[in-house]
Amino acid sequence: MSLVWMEDGGDNKNLQPLPVIPEQPRIVLRAEGLTKIYPQVSGTGPGLELFRDLNLTVRAGEMVAIVGESGAGKSSLLHLLAALDKPTAGEVYCGQARLSEFSSRQASEFRNRDVGYVWQFHYLLPEFTAAENVAMPLLARGMSRPSALAKAANWLAEVGLKARGEHRSGELSGGEQQRVSLARALVTEPKILLADEPTGDLDTKTGETVFDLIQGLHQAHGLTSVLVTHNLDFAARCSRMLRLRNGALEDLAKS
Ligand SMILES: Nc1ncnc2c1ncn2[C@@H]1O[C@H](COP(=O)(O)OP(=O)(O)OP(=O)(O)O)[C@@H](O)[C@H]1O
Ligand SMILES: [Mg+2]
Repeated sequence: MSLVWMEDGGDNKNLQPLPVIPEQPRIVLRAEGLTKIYPQVSGTGPGLELFRDLNLTVRAGEMVAIVGESGAGKSSLLHLLAALDKPTAGEVYCGQARLSEFSSRQASEFRNRDVGYVWQFHYLLPEFTAAENVAMPLLARGMSRPSALAKAANWLAEVGLKARGEHRSGELSGGEQQRVSLARALVTEPKILLADEPTGDLDTKTGETVFDLIQGLHQAHGLTSVLVTHNLDFAARCSRMLRLRNGALEDLAKS
């Protein structure tokens, strides 16, 4: 433990060691008392409660893994963290901003500016080239097409797909498509990466490559990341592992 010395203010300087409490990195995302209940389609009945009073704090630079059974509500939680949906109760904060108060335009701007989102199903546009898919968020911001495509080319190189930019995304392998969607998530240089089972559809070796890539980009770009995965080995390689079960997040100790 490091020490600082405090003077007592008198002539007889009485130096006392004080423990220095290491400063915690700042909080980037905070969910407080989050409850999500999907109403019945009929509009009557109790609805489907996924979680109640859920709390989550994600600090700068952390890579938090969320695991849990299918249907536990992992994607729904990620949607709330990205302001893609509103909670039934509770709040998600990003810095001082309260996400539930965003208008739909503010939510879009927040996603375009601050969040890179990798979808469980990548949702690339198959008729467009890999480079065009990556450039989409920049074009949505109003960037010129040549500038957006130039940035997209850089990001395709970062994910190891320099030579594939002109291929239609529908022609690429599953692993390549997931790398394109990672480049699309990061092309806007967000501070937060939310990835929903980015390796879920891939074979073991390709999944390893994509996970290594995510981890490398997380570190290289100083991201704060939340990653949903069914793969406990990947989860154990994150800073923290949480399990969403019975509507609550439990800390899982890493072995
Ligand atoms: N928009 C919606 N309206 C009603 N119910 C929904 C909606 N979205 C999800 N659900 C339901 O909420 C539950 C949780 O879904 P969610 O997709 O969050 O689970 P998950 O943990 O991501 O599962 P998986 O591991 O299979 O991806 C499911 O029972 C699902 O059918
Ligand atoms: Mg899901």
